[in-house]
Amino acid sequence: MLPETNSEWKRTHYCGELRLEHAEAEVTLLGWVNRQRDMGNLIFVDLRDREGLIQVVFSPEDLALIERAKQLRMEFVVGIRGKVRDRGEKMRNPNMATGDVEVVATDLILFNTSQVPPFMIADPPQASEELRFQYRYLDLRRPALQRSLILRHKAALAVRNFLSSKGFYEIETPFLTKSTPEGARDYLVPSRVYKGRFFALPQSPQIFKQILMIAGFDRYFQIVRCFRDEDLRADRQPEFTQIDIEMSFIEEDELFAVNEAMMAELFGLIGVEVERPFPRLSYEEAMARYGSDKPDLRFGMELQDLTETGGRIDSELMRKALGSGSELKGLVVENGGSLSRSQLDKLNRKAQELGGKGLIWIKKAEAFKSSLKLSQEDFQFVWEKAGAQDSDLLLLVADEKYKALSLLGSIRLEFLPDDIKKSGVYKFTWVTDFPLFEWSEEEQRLVSMHHPFTSPRPEDLNLLEVSPERVRARAYDLVLNGVEIGGGSIRINQMEIQERIFKTLGLTEEEAQEKFGFFLKALEFGAPPHGGIAHGFDRIVMLLAGEDSIREVIPFPKTTSSLSLMTSSPSAVSERQLKELGLKLTKE
Ligand code: AMO
Repeated sequence: MLPETNSEWKRTHYCGELRLEHAEAEVTLLGWVNRQRDMGNLIFVDLRDREGLIQVVFSPEDLALIERAKQLRMEFVVGIRGKVRDRGEKMRNPNMATGDVEVVATDLILFNTSQVPPFMIADPPQASEELRFQYRYLDLRRPALQRSLILRHKAALAVRNFLSSKGFYEIETPFLTKSTPEGARDYLVPSRVYKGRFFALPQSPQIFKQILMIAGFDRYFQIVRCFRDEDLRADRQPEFTQIDIEMSFIEEDELFAVNEAMMAELFGLIGVEVERPFPRLSYEEAMARYGSDKPDLRFGMELQDLTETGGRIDSELMRKALGSGSELKGLVVENGGSLSRSQLDKLNRKAQELGGKGLIWIKKAEAFKSSLKLSQEDFQFVWEKAGAQDSDLLLLVADEKYKALSLLGSIRLEFLPDDIKKSGVYKFTWVTDFPLFEWSEEEQRLVSMHHPFTSPRPEDLNLLEVSPERVRARAYDLVLNGVEIGGGSIRINQMEIQERIFKTLGLTEEEAQEKFGFFLKALEFGAPPHGGIAHGFDRIVMLLAGEDSIREVIPFPKTTSSLSLMTSSPSAVSERQLKELGLKLTKE
């Protein structure tokens, strides 16, 4: 059988849409052979298109047709004409959306053959991610990926419709631009015309969207690609998509309300009713209660401060730790008393991997057992202060306050109950009042926690020059189920404050001019009060699709080591290209 083209073959239905109501209909289906089963004089073909699978039967009435169907192989591209038939009570397949019916074939056309695919196209995927990324076009045929990308389209459309209805305009900003201040490394693009000079790909449209506010557009949004050369994780890609938003003449409340309504619209796509308004936690509170600035509020298990308790027990270790200014933080794991010694050792190793000194555990069987040496009275005292029950496990960390909190916060997540993961519960929260600056160990100086255009809280302005680390920012993150899905701030719109921030960051006038001179100039020409936010669109679609990695909702993702395996990039370039750009490679 040779492939042919025939323009008379027009699809009447997608495979995946056939249901009982279509019984007796004459249909024409176009798609890929997912599987062919040859039972001699009966042949079954599962035909696949973007909407799903349907079972097609070639029955012995037409021997010539059966002969042709025998030659079908996986991933051959075919058209099938036939009649939809009720499979009957006994033959229904509840695992298939189309499982109540099948199509009895009356005609077949082969549009193209295919090589044997290097892996089965099925969910969950069987092949390694490496192989799947190399053959992404085959991987993308998987129903789960097709569903996710269709959902991604619907989500983008919902965002556009929603924001347009609220008076936002989508305005494009350049990709070939100057370094933007989001704190990651830039991807640079050498200029051929101006040798030795480079464009930077934007880490975000931050500066441009603020300029659009200065230009008077009032409400801007853009679904836009951003580029960051940083270490990758399950929820990070070097190029990713933001829903980027900026508004003039607003304060936090109004901005939060619009964004909450947009989230309600988005999660409505999967039938989730979002509770509004979202709770708000200050950074301090989020850290103190959950040990994270992206707290997962689907479960309780809040952290406790036991510093005072620790100070009242007779332990050399505790005296030393607390004497040097450390704090004692605790976490009660409900019913954690049954954890084995090896499970506890594993937790301890995890704590050390996270950079902690270790984890103290206390259990109560007949007597207290612990990795800490204490009298039974002292154990009882700590146990009661922490409010632990007999069957619980108490975990303690003594360390510098935020180190102890983050460590226990990470350990807390290890105990996220499985049923919650699968429950389809969505808990949003705003985290507000971040510190304006943080200390960078790498650079040994204060850096902006968000970016340098973030407004300080007005009541903290007097601390700017005396104790900058205590200044709170008008910055906020939107967190969903422990994932940071968005972040933004009210911006500085007055030069005088902007200059004080640069000074605190240790940027000289010249450095600031060189980096953002064009923007600082714009601030001098009537910048309205404004603020905004950007949401990680890939992360939102990941959560909508119930996936664990954004790579599952990005059509052509990079690997965790920033490679595109399908195109084999990044790749070397020719000597000629380098010369044209005025570049020379070093030996390394
Ligand atoms: P921020 O840097 O917090 O803010 O980014 C906003 C959101 O984008 C998502 N995100 C990412 N998603 C995938 N891969 C990445 N590498 C990645 N990096 C960030 C996150 C994050 O919350 N200009 C500011 C916004 C503003 O102030 O308006 C900004 O870019 O979900």
